Formats: sequence, structure tokens, C-alpha cells
Amino acid sequence: MLTDTQALAQTPLFRGVSETALQVAREAFVARSYPAGKLIFEAGDLGAALYVVQSGKVRIYRTYFDGRERMFAYLGPGEVFGEMSLLDDQPRSASAEVVEDAVLLVLYQDGYWSLVRRYPEILHNLAVILAKRLREADLELEVLSFEEARGRVAYALIKLSRQLYNGGNKLRLTHMELAQLSGTSRETVTRVLHALRDEELVKLGSGSVELLDPTGLEEVMLGLR
Ligand code: CMP
Repeated sequence: MLTDTQALAQTPLFRGVSETALQVAREAFVARSYPAGKLIFEAGDLGAALYVVQSGKVRIYRTYFDGRERMFAYLGPGEVFGEMSLLDDQPRSASAEVVEDAVLLVLYQDGYWSLVRRYPEILHNLAVILAKRLREADLELEVLSFEEARGRVAYALIKLSRQLYNGGNKLRLTHMELAQLSGTSRETVTRVLHALRDEELVKLGSGSVELLDPTGLEEVMLGLR
């Protein structure tokens, strides 16, 4: 497991900052342990703390009035969340729940402001994190609004492989999880997965999907095949 300072050194928030700045930053963060299943905050909550994942996994999602859920992301060690409410004082834009026992480093607004006043490069790094998230959100909007169900499912498989398996090809997941990630129904996911299997793009096991041809899946995601 990473130490607090290693976890901070690995996060894009502290890319390029000096060792001294890292030590000062470490003092500003509070480490908190959360068991799997713990809700860290809910969409709509007020709260102005930013979190860095030191260990474990957190998922970011939203539940809608009709009970459906959309999953936005799985976050692992080094990744940052909760920065939006920290910056604009608006309610949380999504909910955050622990999926694997986690240690999170928490930074409150006061600590944040004194850090960025001393080390403005941290503010730039935060802007880079937001730019990356905006790019991903644009791609997601494109795929979810223009692509057929097969494009959306391919997108969800690629996203899961990157976020939960560091680019690994064998994913353990349920069709329901894939439906939540791809904004489609469980039945549609099953139909699409069978078609992708017949095209030898994936191999289906019980509770698992193996990506046999990630490049082919990216083409499906972009509607090219
Ligand atoms: P905040 O709005 O403070 O609380 C919810 C957090 O979820 C938000 O900050 C971001 O850090 C994170 N978040 C929101 N939308 C996404 C997304 N589409 N992908 C990854 N993380 C997100």
C-alpha cells in the first residue's frame, strides 16, 4: 500500500511540485479509512472537501428519480474526486461510494486555499484534471447520444477495462453493471454481448467478459463496424 506522501506524489494534483510542497500538502490532508459499501457523500449534499484515493476503490454514480442509476467512474489509488464542490461551493454533482475498503486523504477548503496560495502550480494541475474530465464527458456524450447500443456497450467495456483493470482484458462484471455504465437496459446488454461474441470481439464466461480485440471494440464504439 502507498504511504500518504507516496499517494499524494502519484496524484496528478501534485505533478511537478517540489518535495517540500508535498510535505506541506501532506500536513493539510487528513487520512480517513472507509469500509466497502460506505457512502462517502450523495449527489446534492453540501460539502467542500476534495478526496485523494490512497488505497481501495471508489465509484462515482447518480441515481435518478425512477430508481435507475448511471455509473460515471471507478477511481483507484492516486485519483482525485470532490474537487467540483470544493471549487464552486455548489452541491455534490454525483454520489461517491466505497467499493473496496479504502483509505482516502481529505483536503478541506481552508487547507486547499493556503496550499494553492503557496504553490499555484497545484491550481494549474487541478485545471488539467478538470480538462481531462471534460474531454471524457464530451466523448461519453457523443457515444451515448449518437451511437447504437453496441457502441455504448463497447464504450462501457473499454472504460471499465481502463478504470478497474488498468487496461487488463478479463473483466468480472454483471450485465446490470454494464447497463448502468452504457445507459441501456440489461436485456440490450445481453443481446449486444452475444453479437460481439459471435464477431469474436469478446469471450463470455459466467460473470466475466474477456476483451479479445480491444481495437475492434474501439471501432465498434466509434460506429466504424
Ligand atoms: P463533486 O461535484 O464535488 O462531487 C462528486 C464528484 O464526482 C465530482 O465533484 C467529481 O469529482 C466526480 N465526478 C463527477 N462527474 C464525474 C465523471 N463524469 N467522471 C468522473 N468523476 C466525476
